[in-house]
Amino acid sequence: MKKILVTGGTGFIGSHTTVELQQKGYEVIILDNLSNSQEDVIDNITKITGVRPTFGKIDVADRTQLFDFLAKHQGIESIIHFAASKAVGESVKEPLKYYRNNVNGVINILEAMKEFGISNLVFSSSCTVYGQPEVLPVTEQSPIQPALSPYGNTKQINEEIIRDFIKVNPELHAICLRYFNPVGAHPSSLIGELPLGVPANLIPFITQTAAGIRECLSIFGNDYDTPDGTCIRDYIDIVDLANAHIAAINRMEQGKQKTGVEFFNIGTGNGLSVLELVKTFEEATGQKLNYKIVGRREGDIEKVWADTSVANNELGWKAVVPISQTMLNAWNWQKKISNIK
Ligand code: UFG
Repeated sequence: MKKILVTGGTGFIGSHTTVELQQKGYEVIILDNLSNSQEDVIDNITKITGVRPTFGKIDVADRTQLFDFLAKHQGIESIIHFAASKAVGESVKEPLKYYRNNVNGVINILEAMKEFGISNLVFSSSCTVYGQPEVLPVTEQSPIQPALSPYGNTKQINEEIIRDFIKVNPELHAICLRYFNPVGAHPSSLIGELPLGVPANLIPFITQTAAGIRECLSIFGNDYDTPDGTCIRDYIDIVDLANAHIAAINRMEQGKQKTGVEFFNIGTGNGLSVLELVKTFEEATGQKLNYKIVGRREGDIEKVWADTSVANNELGWKAVVPISQTMLNAWNWQKKISNIK
């Protein structure tokens, strides 16, 4: 069995990716410092797959911890690096936390690849690197825009660090996946998104409102230059997104890369407005959603969706889960964690 290290493996994307990896026969080792996730996620992964991943409570930004762990776990061929701080608003208030965690994390991971002979890296990047693109849909060739937050900046910086490092270490390989908006939950309702406190993101806010935890969804602005005035995003199902990582690993394992570092947009190719998404949620779940229109949120991009043709053709990967199913999975997960029958 091929051994894969998944950092941030108890988080939202990491846990779903671990499940898909295990179901495809990989042996997964999870590292997570549990700063934004809980260890019982491991039990739920095990319930889904029947296989318990190895787990180390390790802070990847701490080089000594990481290297001590890896010295005891040889034979890893690939790393999927999710572990990072990810709250855009918090990153504005605490920039150094973001630069320290996210940039040190990547530097340590790259050094570890060299030190322990780990060939392949998949890095979690974001469509945030494109800012508000002038031309839509956005391709991998679209210009990178100055970051709007320290969080976004760490994604750009990390892409550059990876590019520079792979250039001088041709025996190593990397793929950066630029995610659009990851949403949903595993169809088993055993794993999903677990935001702490008041959710900043749309889907957890929607499901918590439907569950009665929040009184009302505030829709941030309806005066944008879009058909219904609300912002447009490309919402990608979490299991589809997880599978993009496996496609990326396979591409590197099979030596199919065109250059040592590659970049792929991971989305559906469809843009949906906030109001369209709310309507889809209501139709898919039968839940009426209490919402109101409020002012714009600072820093929001008006509209962005992916051109996924490069990912489709080169990775042989495509998003397949319909958005109505994704909404239903997110709602079923919310019901499960809120004990709603
Ligand atoms: N929105 C609301 N009300 C809410 C929350 C969100 O109307 O309570 C709207 C936002 O204004 C936006 C859309 O819903 O138009 C999506 O907002 P999210 O916060 O869910 O997602 P973003 O597109 O703002 O952010 C996502 C990721 C970030 C990443 C960013 C850019 O969550 O990590 O995409 O790539 F940085």
